[in-house]
Amino acid sequence: MRAVIVYESVYGNTRTVAEAIAEGLRGARPDAVVRCVPVTGAGPEVTGSADLLVVGGPTHVYGMSSGPSRRMARLAAAGNERGTGGPGSDPGPGLRTWFRSLPKPLPGARGAAFDTRADMLISGGAAHGIAGRLTHHHYGLAAAPEGFVVEGFVVESTGGPLRTGERERAAGWGASLA
Ligand SMILES: Cc1cc2nc3c(=O)[nH]c(=O)nc-3n(C[C@H](O)[C@H](O)[C@H](O)COP(=O)(O)O)c2cc1C
Repeated sequence: MRAVIVYESVYGNTRTVAEAIAEGLRGARPDAVVRCVPVTGAGPEVTGSADLLVVGGPTHVYGMSSGPSRRMARLAAAGNERGTGGPGSDPGPGLRTWFRSLPKPLPGARGAAFDTRADMLISGGAAHGIAGRLTHHHYGLAAAPEGFVVEGFVVESTGGPLRTGERERAAGWGASLA
């Protein structure tokens, strides 16, 4: 089995979840080749040979991130010690753009979608949009879209960290995909 986990992350929480999913997959399938890569490094040469493609990103404005939402996130991150961005920093391509050049999957390849989201009464989620794009690209879904919660409520404080126990839950979800 060749599994590739692709993530988009501004503050690092989605990356942490992606790495936990990779650990879970490796634990459940020691024979599997598992790669965990940021969206900027997930070209066709990485994704084209996957028989399991797991894709995750942060929830922005109730759904998948966009250019403006990533810019907002990076500006907020500039005033947040967890942040990696800064005013005027290049937000880079997000998952929406990345999906446009996703190559045809191998026959029978499966996909799975996850997101990170804040602890809000109505948080929305990016995972359903990601799952929809995976099926549009002819990946059969290996699991229902899943969300993992970061601490914080308002935009300025949604840099996390991940809620206690979410890392372990992500590893379990990864194992279940195997
Ligand atoms: C511009 C912006 C909009 C956001 N909108 C939502 C939202 O609608 N629902 C939600 O649950 N979280 C929202 N959040 C919180 C993000 O989901 C949170 O920052 C993200 O999960 C952190 O992931 P990362 O560390 O990988 O960037 C938003 C954050 C930003 C910066």
